[in-house]
Parts: sequence; structure tokens; C-alpha cells
Amino acid sequence: MLRRPEVLDPDFMPEHVFHREREINTIKGAISPLLQGKRGENLFIYGPPGVGKTLCAKYVLEQFDFRKAYVNCWFHRSPYNLMAEIARQLGIPIPVKGWSLEEVVKEIVKRSPFLVVLDEVDKANEINEIYPIVEGTKSCFVLITNFKDWFMGLDPRLSSRLHPTFLEFKPYSFEQMLDIVKERVKLAFTPGSVEKDALIEIARRAFLRRDVRVALHLLQKASKFERIDLEKVNEIAEEFKKKPILNDMEKRIVEWIKENEGKTTGELYKKFEGEMTERSFRNYIKKLEKMGVIRTEETGKGFRGRSRRIYLSEQYGI
Ligand SMILES: Nc1ncnc2c1ncn2[C@@H]1O[C@H](COP(=O)(O)OP(=O)(O)OP(=O)(O)O)[C@@H](O)[C@H]1O
Ligand SMILES: [Mg+2]
Repeated sequence: MLRRPEVLDPDFMPEHVFHREREINTIKGAISPLLQGKRGENLFIYGPPGVGKTLCAKYVLEQFDFRKAYVNCWFHRSPYNLMAEIARQLGIPIPVKGWSLEEVVKEIVKRSPFLVVLDEVDKANEINEIYPIVEGTKSCFVLITNFKDWFMGLDPRLSSRLHPTFLEFKPYSFEQMLDIVKERVKLAFTPGSVEKDALIEIARRAFLRRDVRVALHLLQKASKFERIDLEKVNEIAEEFKKKPILNDMEKRIVEWIKENEGKTTGELYKKFEGEMTERSFRNYIKKLEKMGVIRTEETGKGFRGRSRRIYLSEQYGI
């Protein structure tokens, strides 16, 4: 029986981070000079999805008592949004009437030194705009991405200023994956809910896909059963295989819908204004509906009663 559903949430912060001692120590080592008033080392962290990059960064950050900002660039893409979020986390009050980008940057520079972690950094538009806060401060920057090559695309002025240490996160071995999955099962379920061979199969599938999230999704789906056995795991995993593969924008839209189920297309679009026209947004919605990822319901309001509410499909898992 599922005792603590939150433990299976991919954003859950486990108390133990398994098998990442080296990586955690590298991050700590890079940023700790800040505590002695020295300049830290910048870090460039890369590796495939679901290998603990965000987890380790957050884990170290949580214990790091210093002025700091952690920003997921996926949610703060434009240079202004990114800078404003860094400023906010550094405790800089931005007046309601707003500032120009230059003013925000100026205030950030004044707060130096600090630590900035930019997760999913490849999702930021015009990342070269961070140059002034890198150049003008004795601060420390940690950039995280799936793509090692992304760094090559930076403006040489920025990359040479950053001059980061590269830290690769490799996929877990099967044994390592098993340890991670075991611990989650122990925390999330009452004893005996997940049979041993089912647990091994979940870890095996996550290992093959090189992504811990696969195990979390399988466990989430399986958690509706009193007891989870091998057969159920295989059934659920087969279901997953039929799931469509989404591109980045589709994933973002789906994530947004997940957080805002039951809203209309027009309401959902507001988040993406400036990034695409309403018409292309509607096309995305149509496509996602066709793929069976979402379902829509007419509200009976709007133009000829055709305004629609959007929901995630029951069977949708990633
Ligand atoms: N070593 C570990 N010990 C415990 N849990 C882990 C470990 N590594 C990853 N996880 C869990 O796996 C999930 C994915 O990890 P995380 O979010 O850090 O991946 P990521 O490498 O940042 O992936 P992405 O590139 O997609 O952002 C999280 O729920 C995390 O808690
Ligand atoms: Mg991450």
C-alpha cells in the first residue's frame, strides 16, 4: 500500500543521495571557497536525463549557507525573466513599475559575491546576456544541461570568463539503480507491498532507460494495486511503450496542463504568449489531443459554445 505518495514525485528530495559522493564533493569543493571570501570555481555539469544532476545541485545548495540563487531556465527563459528571478532570490526588491534589464543587472552585480545555479541552462534564450554578472563579480556559477556540446556554442567571451570545470554525470549501474529504487520503495510503501522480483524488474527497466524517473513513474502507476508483482510491472511497462514521444515544447505544454487541469485553451495560452501565436498554441493542443495525451471538453461558452477545457488523459505517463 502506498503510504507516502509524495516520495514518488520526481521533485521529491530524498534524504540520501546514493552513489554520487564524487559529484557532490566536486560541487562542494568548487563553491566552498566563497565561504572564505575567495573566488570559487565555476562548474559545467552535464549528463543525460534522470541521473541526479538537479538532485545533487539542490542537495549541496540546501546546505550551503551563502547568498545564492537556483533557477531552472526552462521556466525563466528570457534574459529579463532570468535576471529578475536571480535578483529576487538574492533578495533584491524589484519595484512594481519594473526595471530595465540593465538596472536589474546593476543591482545583481552590487550583491556580489554570490552563487548562481542555472539548471536546464540550454533552455535559456540569449544566455550570453549573463556576461555582465559573470564579468563584473567574484561570484560562482554552476550551469547544468543534458548537452555537453552546448558549451561550445557560447560567446567565446563568456566561455573564457566562465572557464568552468566540467563535471559529467554518468548513468547509474544496475546495482546503483537498485539501491535508489529500493530506498524509494521503502519510504513510499508499507512493507511487503512490492514483491522482490517486481522491484528488481522496475530497477532493471530504469537502468536500461538510464533514467531514475522511469522507476518512479512505474511505481506511481503500480501504486493503485494493493500488492505489486512482476506481472503488473510488466503490464504497466508495456503500456508505457505505447506512449508517444514528445518534443520539448510539447512536454512543456503538457507540464503546464498538468498543473492547470480544467483550464481553457485561452487561459493556458497566456503562459506561452510572446513565445508563439495563439494559433500555433491551438495547433499544439490539437496534436496532443490526437496523440491521446490530453482530452478536451466543451465548456458551452465562448464562440458558438466552442471554448474547451483541457485535461490530461488518464493513461498518460512519460
Ligand atoms: N542518486 C540518487 N539517489 C536518490 N534519488 C535519485 C538519485 N539520482 C536521481 N534520483 C532521483 O531521480 C529523479 C531524477 O533526478 P534529477 O531530477 O536529479 O535528474 P536530472 O539529472 O536533473 O535530469 P534532467 O536532465 O532531466 O533534469 C529525482 O526524483 C531524483 O530524486
Ligand atoms: Mg534536472
